[in-house]
Amino acid sequence: MDAIDNILNRVSARTLKKPHPTENQMKKVFKGALRAPDHAWLRPSSFIQVTGEGIDKLSAIFEEYAKTIPDIKDEIITKYKNAPYRAPMIVILVNAIKEHPKVPDIEQKLSTAASAQNILLLLNALGYSAIWRTGKLAFNPFVASKLNLEANQEILGYIYIGTADGQNKKIPELDIEDFVSYL
Ligand SMILES: Cc1cc2nc3c(=O)[nH]c(=O)nc-3n(C[C@H](O)[C@H](O)[C@H](O)COP(=O)(O)O)c2cc1C
Repeated sequence: MDAIDNILNRVSARTLKKPHPTENQMKKVFKGALRAPDHAWLRPSSFIQVTGEGIDKLSAIFEEYAKTIPDIKDEIITKYKNAPYRAPMIVILVNAIKEHPKVPDIEQKLSTAASAQNILLLLNALGYSAIWRTGKLAFNPFVASKLNLEANQEILGYIYIGTADGQNKKIPELDIEDFVSYL
């Protein structure tokens, strides 16, 4: 796929089914993720790949978290429990803040965000679809502790991955003049 077409035509997909990328394809995806810009090469980003029984484990963690929310309705607990089954593969985006005199925390999180975009683009180039989700399950210390993350690590989001079920949504036409100014 042409590199420019890949960027211009990528869309997120909400409904994702099998197949998901192979292990070899995911190696490429993670290699690409690790080519995100990274001030001082602090390597703040890491990734947890979730498939198969991992999806069941994540579902159990989400359910356990939901039950900690005061007065939560049963249907919302079910919604959290079912969330990971929306795709056959999930990549959890993890950011680890490292102390550095010139690189503030926000730059390290931005680096992991850039790695997420690289993941989305790599997946698109390989013929798969994905969507980046956050919500209450991201930036969530309960879920982080259940995933055995360290104190300086935080979940920045979840990339749900698979094959798009149905047509890609239409890409909106945006006029760049509404978004770009010139000095
Ligand atoms: C940091 C971040 C968090 C997001 N969280 C959610 C989310 O929790 N749920 C959701 O439906 N979309 C979420 N989105 C938006 C989708 O990933 C997607 O970008 C959006 O549906 C627009 O589709 P497009 O990527 O095809 O333009 C998030 C996007 C970003 C950048």
